[in-house]
Amino acid sequence: MNELLIALQNSALASFIGKQNHLFGAVAQLFHIAGLILVVSPVVLISLRLLGFGLVKQSVSELAVATARWTWTGLAILALSGTVIFLPAAAHYYPNPIFWFKFILLGVAVLFHVTWYRSVTRQKAVRPLLARSTAIVALSVWFGVAYAGRFIGFY
Ligand code: HEM
Repeated sequence: MNELLIALQNSALASFIGKQNHLFGAVAQLFHIAGLILVVSPVVLISLRLLGFGLVKQSVSELAVATARWTWTGLAILALSGTVIFLPAAAHYYPNPIFWFKFILLGVAVLFHVTWYRSVTRQKAVRPLLARSTAIVALSVWFGVAYAGRFIGFY
């Protein structure tokens, strides 16, 4: 794995990104935060609704359908901006356990999102216990990824 990350770090794309001035990296981070907001906002909106707060005039399924595109647009922006941040320093992240924790949790978050979360948030009426547990798991996994992302730099 470390050889792969060293090869990625020495790739033509990584050295092109590395040669850009610092604003390039700063703009990539801004896009990363914008992607984060697009992913987490609908999760917060719908989780509050599942807990009986927030936009109570709309049903959970109406909110889920209306915001579904935000999540995938946000994930695409995160993947692109994250790759720009990651590539020039790929081998630097290899020994960082927080980096690996973030990606394992991101895998769990996406799997949860397309299975359990999708089936619950498409229901017309959700049983209270299922609604509360879905909201708590959704908020925990996505904020967990965000906090892990923030803590990568501190480790
Ligand atoms: C999809 C693929 C993703 C890639 C390749 C990626 C990659 C990265 C990298 C390389 C960093 C910089 C770490 C550092 O050196 O400090 C970072 C930071 C961060 N990531 Fe991601 N990430 C991805 C997805 C996500 C997701 C899904 C979230 C949240 C839901 C997220 C939230 C963050 C946050 C909050 C930071 C800290 C930003 C900052 O310090 O300004 N990332 N990410």
